[in-house]
Amino acid sequence: MAYVRFNVKSELSLSCIVLLIYFQVSKCSEESNCSKLQIGQYICFPPEINSTTQQPVGCSRQTDGSYKAYAPCVPAPRVSCTGLSQNGTFKRPVDCKPTNGKSFETALLLSVFLGMFGIDRFYLGYPALGLLKFCTLGFMFVGQLVDIVLIATQIVGPADGSSYIIDYYGAGVMHLVVDNVTYYHPTG
Ligand SMILES: *[C@@H]1O[C@H](CO)[C@@H](O)[C@H](O)[C@H]1NC(C)=O
Ligand SMILES: *[C@@H]1O[C@H](CO)[C@@H](O)[C@H](O)[C@H]1NC(C)=O
Ligand SMILES: *[C@@H]1O[C@H](CO)[C@@H](O)[C@H](O)[C@H]1NC(C)=O
Ligand SMILES: *[C@@H]1O[C@H](CO)[C@@H](O)[C@H](O)[C@H]1NC(C)=O
Repeated sequence: MAYVRFNVKSELSLSCIVLLIYFQVSKCSEESNCSKLQIGQYICFPPEINSTTQQPVGCSRQTDGSYKAYAPCVPAPRVSCTGLSQNGTFKRPVDCKPTNGKSFETALLLSVFLGMFGIDRFYLGYPALGLLKFCTLGFMFVGQLVDIVLIATQIVGPADGSSYIIDYYGAGVMHLVVDNVTYYHPTG
């Protein structure tokens, strides 16, 4: 009697274990779309930068009005997902800014050295203010000083609403880059 009871018990626990393994395996092998991976499940490489615009190549306006480009990413070790390209990468959107040929350095230099003639305002596309500054010697240099501050702090930008061209990896801009070294943190 005791022998039979033991058998039933072990069979029950065995089928339990089999069921558990089955569910565990099916859960693990369930692959999701790469674009749906959470932070920490993938590593992205810096996007390719257009040297003219100093923005990621392919920066374009999205339907929601923001500007995005795409950076290549790879799934983290032991993470698998669908939708990888042949070289094992997938693309994720990164923020970028629209630029229209107006350089921050140029604007600031013009403001400092030629601001009393309004050249900085002409450069940025405010001809009326430029002319006013030209005729008044930059409001007797007071307006020039104000403009230097406004441009240096980037409160005043190009008149068309575009962003200044500033070196993508240059001083003044913070870009957090996560690479395989940052991500990979061996324990022990
Ligand atoms: C860089 O941007 C400029 C201006 O938008 C464009 O004319 C040029 O084709 C771009 N270059 C590359 C390599 O994408
Ligand atoms: C993954 O999702 C993106 C957008 O959410 C979609 O365009 C793409 O077709 C999907 N790929 C697969 C393999 O399901
Ligand atoms: C990987 O493939 C994608 C699309 O096929 C391509 O845009 C990307 O440049 C490739 N990356 C490398 C490192 O070859
Ligand atoms: C990170 O990538 C570089 C080259 O891209 C490689 O030399 C290095 O071994 C990688 N480091 C780790 C921890 O995978």
